[in-house]
Amino acid sequence: MNILIKTHEEIEKMRIAGRLAAEVLEMIEPYVKPGISTGELDRICHNFMVNEQKTVPAPLNYGAAPGRPGFPKSICTSINHVVCHGIPSDKKMLKSGDMINIDITVIKDGYHGDTSKMFMVGDVQPFNQRLAKVTQECMYKGIDQVKPGARLSDIGRVIAHHAHNNHYSVVEEYCGHGIGRGFHEDPQVLHYEGYGDRNDCELKEGMIFTIEPMINAGKKGTKLLSDNWTAITKDRRPSAQWEHTILVTASGREVLTLRKEERT
Ligand code: MF3
Ligand code: CO
Ligand code: CO
Repeated sequence: MNILIKTHEEIEKMRIAGRLAAEVLEMIEPYVKPGISTGELDRICHNFMVNEQKTVPAPLNYGAAPGRPGFPKSICTSINHVVCHGIPSDKKMLKSGDMINIDITVIKDGYHGDTSKMFMVGDVQPFNQRLAKVTQECMYKGIDQVKPGARLSDIGRVIAHHAHNNHYSVVEEYCGHGIGRGFHEDPQVLHYEGYGDRNDCELKEGMIFTIEPMINAGKKGTKLLSDNWTAITKDRRPSAQWEHTILVTASGREVLTLRKEERT
């Protein structure tokens, strides 16, 4: 494991990238309505990033390798029982009652900002609203653990407790991650109690990583679709996710991807 401690100059660049990623989520909100396609949401975000922000959408072509195509779009759109990495499509229209996670990662000046939130489309069933709300609470409880001297495993412990208290399960196949010049750096940030003695570590000032719990209404198991990206719940019951990029500071933490609606 090679966890990079960011310099003051890098932290300043990460603050900028984080703010820009948050601004894409703020920009797209009024468009997330019944009848729009996820392909259109992708186009609006892509054009905003490239033309207005002058940022690079990190997902586009991410993960490409010989014989393996990269991610084909600029944002991830994950609806209802899609856990993460849903691919935007002009054929997929939002309808009243859907809930959708939009996950934005921008690159500015070589550094990444990564954040996602749940949007409610039209009238959403109370049990789905509750899943989204509890998942956001899980993320905030994880964020509250972050300070120098705490351990990485403290984050997953409080997230899993809150999810289980609400009779939900925690996805284990996908996790948070260090972030900086790299999209996915060390460490892996688990959202459950899975470290054992290995890969856990003490948090230190200057570390930057994401916390991005995926919480399921039913069982924790996921399945990868044949597009090799889209992850869904095995039991097809709904799943929710929220994500922020977090800096460990001397006294605690700074959320680099905070939106206006979250500032109190
Ligand atoms: N933004 C996702 C994350 O939180 C990763 C998306 S990778 C992609 O780590 F290729 F699917 F875009
Ligand atoms: Co992430
Ligand atoms: Co993300």
